[in-house]
Amino acid sequence: MSISPRPRTVLVTGAARRLGRSIALALATGGWQVAVHYRESAQDAIDTVAACAQLAGASAHFEADFSDEAAVRALLPRVVAHFGRVDAVVNSASLFEHDTAQSFSFAALEKHLRSNTGAPIVLAQALHQHLQERTAAGDADARGAVVNLLDQKLWNQNPDFLSYTLSKAALEAAGTMLALALAPLVRVVGVAPGLTLTSHLLSDDKFQQLHALSPLGRSSTADDVAATVRFALENQSITGTTLLVDGGQHLMKFERDFSLM
Ligand SMILES: NC(=O)c1ccc[n+]([C@@H]2O[C@H](COP(=O)([O-])OP(=O)(O)OC[C@H]3O[C@@H](n4cnc5c(N)ncnc54)[C@H](OP(=O)(O)O)[C@@H]3O)[C@@H](O)[C@H]2O)c1
Repeated sequence: MSISPRPRTVLVTGAARRLGRSIALALATGGWQVAVHYRESAQDAIDTVAACAQLAGASAHFEADFSDEAAVRALLPRVVAHFGRVDAVVNSASLFEHDTAQSFSFAALEKHLRSNTGAPIVLAQALHQHLQERTAAGDADARGAVVNLLDQKLWNQNPDFLSYTLSKAALEAAGTMLALALAPLVRVVGVAPGLTLTSHLLSDDKFQQLHALSPLGRSSTADDVAATVRFALENQSITGTTLLVDGGQHLMKFERDFSLM
């Protein structure tokens, strides 16, 4: 009699809507049980959970505000309590508020660092601790991965969104340090999309025009990004590096952020 392997569980942050939802669905399609994190988008989180459960058999949603360190620290243990284990974390939740060198403040920087840098690091730390506990309990399968969503703009900088960009630059640097510090139990990989989804700041026409602005004539789609996240989670050899999924936008020079071009 063959024993079917236990399903793997992934926590995807900011998974109620937009890119996080696409990542959650791509992973559920691959058989991952998805813990859907959200902050305010409760109804969207319920919808994402229903779609993931249909694909992978089980899913659940978990609310947490990443400006609150205690809430971040409690999140992964809550997911473990629900599913019995966690094997991976995808840090997609992100604050994206505009500031510049002129409007910069400690308050804006701190807000972005809390949600975009501190929370992903604490979740990686918590996954490592959980895998150490599983190893101590004799689980030979206790290996995991963290994927951090970055941004092509780290390689193609402009003066807009100063605090957001600093928080992602710090997360990119943390990726190297964490990959070294948490090995061999945890791999850490960055995935850096180009312009992928539009926002209220862009008309549809403007978005299409900017999306085409790349060496390949197209930036990334949500499916491209989600497929790369799945690849990073499932390829056992990748750690301490970043996959840029942007049609080559990082090779170009933009004077402003897309939303202000
Ligand atoms: N979209 C793009 O074109 C693009 C391009 C380059 C890089 N990226 C990166 O890809 C990732 C996903 O992009 P996206 O456009 O889907 O992101 P998004 O819509 O801007 O934000 C995703 C989610 O983050 C959650 N969030 C924000 N602040 C939070 C906080 N303090 N605590 C907990 N959750 C918080 C929100 O959840 P609730 O709605 O539940 O409050 C939000 O729905 C981000 O890391 C982004 O930097 C995206």
